Amino acid sequence: MSIVSIAREDIRQLKPYASARAIAGMAPVTLNANESPFLSPADPGLGLNRYPDPQPGELVQRVASLFELAPEQVLVGRGSDEGIDLILRAFCRAGQDAMVQCPPTFGMYAIAARIQGAGIVDVPLISDTFKLDETGVLAACDEQPVKVVFLCSPNNPTGNAIDLDTVARICESLAGRALVVVDEAYGDFCDTPGAVTLLQRFDNLAVLRTLSKAYALAGLRCGLVLSHPEVISLLLRILAPYPVPAQTADVVLRALGEAQRREQQKVVSVLIDSRDNLFKQLKNIKIVEKVWPSEGNFLLFRVAQGHDLWRYLADQQVLVRDVSHYPGLDNCLRVSVGAAHENARFLSLLEDYRP
Ligand SMILES: Cc1ncc(COP(=O)(O)O)c(C=O)c1O
Repeated sequence: MSIVSIAREDIRQLKPYASARAIAGMAPVTLNANESPFLSPADPGLGLNRYPDPQPGELVQRVASLFELAPEQVLVGRGSDEGIDLILRAFCRAGQDAMVQCPPTFGMYAIAARIQGAGIVDVPLISDTFKLDETGVLAACDEQPVKVVFLCSPNNPTGNAIDLDTVARICESLAGRALVVVDEAYGDFCDTPGAVTLLQRFDNLAVLRTLSKAYALAGLRCGLVLSHPEVISLLLRILAPYPVPAQTADVVLRALGEAQRREQQKVVSVLIDSRDNLFKQLKNIKIVEKVWPSEGNFLLFRVAQGHDLWRYLADQQVLVRDVSHYPGLDNCLRVSVGAAHENARFLSLLEDYRP
């Protein structure tokens, strides 16, 4: 039984909006979308008077070939945030179905679930190591009408990754019952292999990737859902008509070119080295009680009074993330790996801090 059979019946039956471009593409005379025939004086030469391709063909092809998938397994949207939202809307009936998340984790799973009216079942990560409670996740799915399970790997804000065997076991146990969503926003900073290779084995798996982190294109808003063709086709039914602006498609396609990817990989290596250095330096700072190892581009650390330190840093124009209100993260802050001068400024303020 396909995993799509557990999705919302009304969405499966929905006759989606058929945009002009989706029906007929472009022709020498294109008069079917009430667009302007003239370029805007502000147009950088991209033909922005026209609606873009709803799913830019060349970009979808490129992504598919990078991940060794079929184009039908790829959805391009406005950041991973959109992928999270689409999945919850397609699979969870408001007031009836639920999702599982493993806090402390990325906040948008819960927010998107609340907006959709889906229940939230928390299966906390094991305290201090932040390992996934695999048994707990499966038990939660037995008890509730859980349709979606979010696994974040590497996890934001704890930085640890989930090994592929664990993901595979969870997919296997939940086959036909729930969609397992592995959010790999930080996958490019991480040595643990990603879950894309499992897509051949499990139709109840979706992997989220983003251009916002390792590709340094947060401002463009581009994220990917990689999954079984039936899942992608379901999500496309509820995707906004033209989610990928022409400029976004253009820049992302360039960013995914061979030469650019090699360049980007060098930057990622620099960030990984900086992260590992920052980890060592943070450990040596007196006020830092604990730093957790990270496979992302950020580090989680604990001090005696997290919020006070956050305020002091903010007063000095250095912004880090106060995560001390997350469950299990009392007095913890999360710092992104910055450029050398930013890391140095952050560290020197920590050295000078007198609570
Ligand atoms: C784990 C995780 N997933 C998804 C996102 C959202 O990424 P995007 O910019 O692609 O919407 C973030 C952003 O910080 C994140 O930390």
